[in-house]
Amino acid sequence: MKGKIVRVAGPLVIARGIPGAKMYDVVRVGNAGLVGEIIELKGDEASIQVYENTSGIGPGEPVITTGAPLSVELGPGLLTSIFDGIQRPLDVMREKVGDFITRGLDIPPLSREKKWDFEPAVKEGEEIGEGDILGEVQETKYIRHRILVPPGIKGKVRKIRGGSFTIEEEIAVIKTDDGKETSLTMLQKWPVRRPRPFKKKLPPEKILITGQRVIDAFFPLAKGGTACVPGPFGSGKTVLQHQLAKWSDAHIIIYIGCGERGNEMASVLLEFPELEDPYTGEPLINRTVLIANTSNMPVAAREASIYTGVTIAEYFRDMGYNVAVMADSTSRWAEALREISGRLEEMPGEEGYPAYLPQRVAEFYERAGRVICIGKDGREGTLSIIGAVSPPGGDLSDPVVQATLKVVKVFWSLEDWLAYRRHFPAINWLTSYSLYVENLESYLKKEIAEDWLNLRKEALKILEKEADLQEIVRLVGVESLSPKDRLLLETARSIREDFLHQNAFDPVDTYSPLKKQYLMLKIVLEFHHQLIKLLEEGKDIQDLLSHPLREEIARMRYVKNEDEKTLSDLLERVRKIGEVAHV
Ligand SMILES: Nc1ncnc2c1ncn2[C@@H]1O[C@H](COP(=O)(O)OP(=O)(O)OP(=O)(O)O)[C@@H](O)[C@H]1O
Ligand SMILES: [Mg+2]
Repeated sequence: MKGKIVRVAGPLVIARGIPGAKMYDVVRVGNAGLVGEIIELKGDEASIQVYENTSGIGPGEPVITTGAPLSVELGPGLLTSIFDGIQRPLDVMREKVGDFITRGLDIPPLSREKKWDFEPAVKEGEEIGEGDILGEVQETKYIRHRILVPPGIKGKVRKIRGGSFTIEEEIAVIKTDDGKETSLTMLQKWPVRRPRPFKKKLPPEKILITGQRVIDAFFPLAKGGTACVPGPFGSGKTVLQHQLAKWSDAHIIIYIGCGERGNEMASVLLEFPELEDPYTGEPLINRTVLIANTSNMPVAAREASIYTGVTIAEYFRDMGYNVAVMADSTSRWAEALREISGRLEEMPGEEGYPAYLPQRVAEFYERAGRVICIGKDGREGTLSIIGAVSPPGGDLSDPVVQATLKVVKVFWSLEDWLAYRRHFPAINWLTSYSLYVENLESYLKKEIAEDWLNLRKEALKILEKEADLQEIVRLVGVESLSPKDRLLLETARSIREDFLHQNAFDPVDTYSPLKKQYLMLKIVLEFHHQLIKLLEEGKDIQDLLSHPLREEIARMRYVKNEDEKTLSDLLERVRKIGEVAHV
């Protein structure tokens, strides 16, 4: 007995009489066996969103259920992989069938042939429970893939064996409390729409270092935190997400290209194997999983892609790692949701998005956090999520932006007027915010410097004052300002141009360690204090505005990252400006 298609509407297929059909089960649709998911059941009639191109399939063709919800495969082999929105391995598929992905193709996400060296961490006879570490595999040079006891399993180890195995071979047998024996392999599955369990959520307390000065210094993200990057067309969302994927000090990066243009994804694919991780010196790709659902791929798979990505992220979090997820762009995801909702003839809400959009957005970001993982060792893991949003015309009243801002704690507002002026990253320093500064306070003071947050506060204040003064300058000209205010304007310019502005394409400037960020900001502000002092001592404002050290300050960002001495020396010389001037 099989169900039958009654209607096909783009990515949506209506079918009747599927035996055993349940909500959210994965089904195979039509003679081609396309992958789909039941998203509505009314009596005997199922609405199915199909993750593949539905052209050419029609009424009367069969539909069967797999009886399982949309799930991802978890195990060694995830890192360095490139998957599509429903975790089909794009690289392997291309090898097998060429650039045109054949529909209904069954290639498993993780290799069944590859062997991994499994090193057991438990002994026979030991009592173990969910989340405990069964053993480890060296997946890439620096990442040890921990094989965990799957949720829901508890008992005594009957058998455990180390050695070289494929992910389908038995590595352990657990005798559960009801007397049954469960065989475990390195391969596990998890339904993507259900968050993976953890013991307890904790408030984030450590900064996620991104090496991007405007972010780390002004609007920091916490490990386990959430951030939103809205911006109009061409304002630098993708470049910023790539920068975060490259330079964040997370152990694992999950990059979801959701509705992006193919060439944007291609640049990631080309660069990541070449670039070095500044923390380990290894190719960046070794800590990365890429999910690519480009704009030319079916729309429903785009809807699934963010869940596929975040579930893989949770899996690595559960091993005790710091994981960061970038999703570019969640607007394209929301559009997929809108399209499916429209086909289902649901009542549209704002801008045609379904009324449940805010809830879906919230559920996604709620999967972020710093947690105590399940398992008896009490290890901690974090999952950070950074979502780009591309509202039409950059309009922040857009429903996707609004729904996102309600749940995330960091807002990096990219703006086109900054991008036109080639001020990159085009993050507006006056309107962006981070609600983590307080959480991070003691950590930052300890890790960077006692006065770090004071520098931040002072710099932001100078920029605010600049905005006020610019109003006056527009009305009555710069000559009407007091010399002190003119110095302040010059310092504000220096903060913007010498510190906030950062060129993603310069080999040195692309990434700044925290210590360098600190010295740079310290130098700019110390210079300001010294000049104010000289002004008060009666020095001429014009001389101060064209002080020769300005040139060196403008070149600070190109000082090699490991060379702390050059900047420390510059700071010393800035401190002594006054003395030199007196001689
Ligand atoms: N940090 C940066 N340093 C130098 N150039 C940058 C930086 N950020 C953005 N740019 C420039 O801006 C261009 C557009 O950036 P990007 O493609 O990231 O925009 P976007 O917001 O993703 O656009 P879209 O809405 O089309 O997806 C880049 O090609 C690059 O030239
Ligand atoms: Mg983009």
